[in-house]
Amino acid sequence: MATANERLMQWLRDAQAMESHAEAMLETLARHIENYPEVKAQTQRVLRETREAAGIVQDAIERRGGDTSTLKDSAAPPGPGEQSLSGSFVGDEAVKRAMTEISSYNILVAAAADAAAGDSETHAVCEDILRQEEAMVEWLKNYLASTTVEYLGREETPGAAVQHRRLPSRKNSRISPGSGRSS
Ligand SMILES: [Fe+2]
Repeated sequence: MATANERLMQWLRDAQAMESHAEAMLETLARHIENYPEVKAQTQRVLRETREAAGIVQDAIERRGGDTSTLKDSAAPPGPGEQSLSGSFVGDEAVKRAMTEISSYNILVAAAADAAAGDSETHAVCEDILRQEEAMVEWLKNYLASTTVEYLGREETPGAAVQHRRLPSRKNSRISPGSGRSS
């Protein structure tokens, strides 16, 4: 059985890997967003916050006597699903990711406050990051509705750029402008 201190260390390491992974994904996303200036600006802001959070968590690991020399290497590169985010509509995946991060920091806040592992500084910094993650979800909630309307508008406009990347065309589907309508 792991001690509360060991668990806290393990969860801090998980959070650091999670933030490094998010950083790689956000870097790719920020480079590819073209048609949604507000999403691009928000993505760049979240990228800065993510880098800060990764540094804060790394500091907490080191303060608690953990070795961080191998942390960066443990962050997996973005998988195919995440890379495709850059070529698709920003939404669902971002919400899922933010909710996962909120869960992680809720756990860290509780673990750092636990009497056995009591670490007021780690508790305070994790609470700050948690507030930031919650603000991110609030932004997504407020913004998704208007972006969806904008997206649908572009889709209805002939010649407007909807996707940032071309989707593979389906064989046997012959779609030309106006072909869906009969006069
Ligand atoms: Fe984060």
